[in-house]
Amino acid sequence: MIREATVLDIPRINELGSLLNDNFSSVNHLNDMLEDSLSKVYVYENDDQVIGFISATDLKETCDILSLVVDPEFRNQLVASNLIDYLISELDENLKIITLEVASKNIPAIHLYEKFGFEIVNVRKKYYADGDDAYLMARESE
Ligand SMILES: CC(C)(COP(=O)(O)OP(=O)(O)OC[C@H]1O[C@@H](n2cnc3c(N)ncnc32)[C@H](O)[C@@H]1OP(=O)(O)O)[C@@H](O)C(=O)NCCC(=O)NCCS
Repeated sequence: MIREATVLDIPRINELGSLLNDNFSSVNHLNDMLEDSLSKVYVYENDDQVIGFISATDLKETCDILSLVVDPEFRNQLVASNLIDYLISELDENLKIITLEVASKNIPAIHLYEKFGFEIVNVRKKYYADGDDAYLMARESE
C-alpha cells in the first residue's frame, strides 16, 4: 500500500534515506516537508512496515524528484516503480516535466528512470563528494 507520509514515518524515512546519503536527515527537513504544500512524500508499506519512500517538490508544471529509496531486502520487486507511478498519478494535469539528479555510477536507478521515459539531459561534472558526476534526467509529459 502506498500512502502519504506522516510525522510517525520520519525516523524510518531517515533510516532508509541514510542508505542514499550519510547526511540525509540533516539535508532533508522532513518535518518541514510534511507541512509544506509543495512537497510530496509517499511511503510504501508492507505488513505495517515502511519498505520504501519517494519525495518530490511539486511546482505543478514541473516536479523534481528528490529521493527514492527501497529497503535492500525488498528491491527488484517493483516497489520503486510503484512509488514513481503513484507520484505521477498525484501530479497536476498541467505537468510538463519531471526532473531528478542521479549519480552517474548508480546504474540500477538510471535503468529504473529510463524505464519510465527519463532521459539524461545534462551532466554535472564531479558533483558528488566522491568525485562522481551527476546526471540531470528529465521526463517530458506527452
Ligand atoms: C534504485 C532503487 C530505488 C530501485 O528500487 P527497486 O524497488 O528495486 O526498483 P524496481 O524493482 O521497481 O525496478 C524497476 C527497474 O529498475 C531497474 N533496476 C532496478 N534494480 C536494478 C539493478 N540492480 N540493476 C539494473 N537495473 C535495475 C530495472 O530497469 C528494473 O526494471 P525490470 O525489473 O523491468 O528490469 C533501489 O535500488 C534503491 O533504493 N537504491 C538505493 C537508493 C538510490 O540509489 N535511489 C535512487 C537515487 S535518488
